[in-house]
Amino acid sequence: MTRVITYGTYDLLHFGHIKLLERAKALGDYLIVGVTSDDFDMTRGKINVQQPLMERIEALQRTGLADEIIVEEYDGQKIDDIRRFNVDIFTVGSDWEGKFDYLNEYCKVIYLPRTEGVSSSEVRAEQRKIRMGFVGDYESRILVKYYNECKYVNGIEISGVYARNKDIKNILGSSDIYITQDFSDFLKRCDAIYVLSHPSEHYEQIKEAIAQGVHILCESPIALKEEQFKELNELAKIKNVVLMNSIKTAYSTAYYRLLLLVKSGRIGDIISIDTTCTSIQEVDDKKYAWNSICLWGPTALLPIVQILGTEYLNINIVSRLSNDDFDQFTKIDFLYTHATATLKVGRGIKSEGEMIISGTKGYIYVPAPWWKTDYFEIRYENSSDNRRYFYPLEGEGIRYELVDFVKTINTGIESAYISSDVSGAICRVMDSFYKKENFVEI
Ligand code: CTP
Repeated sequence: MTRVITYGTYDLLHFGHIKLLERAKALGDYLIVGVTSDDFDMTRGKINVQQPLMERIEALQRTGLADEIIVEEYDGQKIDDIRRFNVDIFTVGSDWEGKFDYLNEYCKVIYLPRTEGVSSSEVRAEQRKIRMGFVGDYESRILVKYYNECKYVNGIEISGVYARNKDIKNILGSSDIYITQDFSDFLKRCDAIYVLSHPSEHYEQIKEAIAQGVHILCESPIALKEEQFKELNELAKIKNVVLMNSIKTAYSTAYYRLLLLVKSGRIGDIISIDTTCTSIQEVDDKKYAWNSICLWGPTALLPIVQILGTEYLNINIVSRLSNDDFDQFTKIDFLYTHATATLKVGRGIKSEGEMIISGTKGYIYVPAPWWKTDYFEIRYENSSDNRRYFYPLEGEGIRYELVDFVKTINTGIESAYISSDVSGAICRVMDSFYKKENFVEI
């Protein structure tokens, strides 16, 4: 009996897949199909896959072409599978020509001609595109990153920029982009917007966008008062509009997995969390530039409220103000019933940007810059129990965030990454800062 094996993602199963499977089957008597796991696709940078693994497997089963379906989960697995299943022929489409020649050592390798004119990427691209606009310009470094990351995400088409700064064309390196200072005209051209205006402008702009039925991904904090956030959140629900809090760290695979490990008790009960985020960046105009608490506060707060909860008992703020409300440095201590946390943020000072989460059994250490990490360690009293974790991170997490935004818009299912309670708590901390509650200036 000749045993044949082939691999693929098989997202939105199409004619090209079927043709390949038929020809693969015809090469022998028994066909094994390896389907990539969601995780494996993520690690190899395939971030736009729409169907979860089980759906892709079920669609394959319905074709009746596979005698056996297996899941491909790690690099190098093909060699293992070929040996384990006693495979005679390995085959894939000609788009992989030459890539799997190393498998000739284990079985025969055949590249089958790929069917022209169809691919999962094209099927995804044909779906209705979301016209995405960008709001804001005074933190253009961040704007440029989001703007550039859009090209990795299926289903987004950039529709324009609402900006005061006329130089934004050059900054974005794009000459044919629509740039306006007329917000309502801008909204008419958008299905969704990414908001990076000054945080004091968010509330009004988001309110107007919701009224126009435009979905919003807003760089955190969404508002500077918790009541404002609650109001916007309610309005968004009524209008069936997605209002998402943008904190790219929430989408870093390492950070997300770290949360799961903490919640499953790997370091015991959590007693303390320390986060530090600082940067030394030129600020052109303090009136429009984000101060430390807005620029870094939401990121530094994220693990605190996601792990210890949003119901802290009290907070104490120490801040160095360089003028009015522009804090060059802020330290906030949080008191919880059974835990404590400290965040330090700075724009114009530099410190070690690490995170330490201390528990009753051990602690997690994330080296600088922890907010865009691909690595962390769990450390115990007995150092031989220590574990290191590595996860790939493409585009600082922005890419995954944009994919999640598109998915949330298309499915209407609330995103699992940042809950509205967490977004609300972040706005509450901003509120305390601006009201100078329990506040000491240094
Ligand atoms: N394939 C094919 N003809 C096509 C598309 C895919 O023969 N038009 C083959 C691939 O060569 C591979 C298998 O089908 O052997 C599974 O491919 P997969 O990567 O899942 O499909 P694509 O449509 O290429 O997906 P994407 O556009 O996301 O890369």
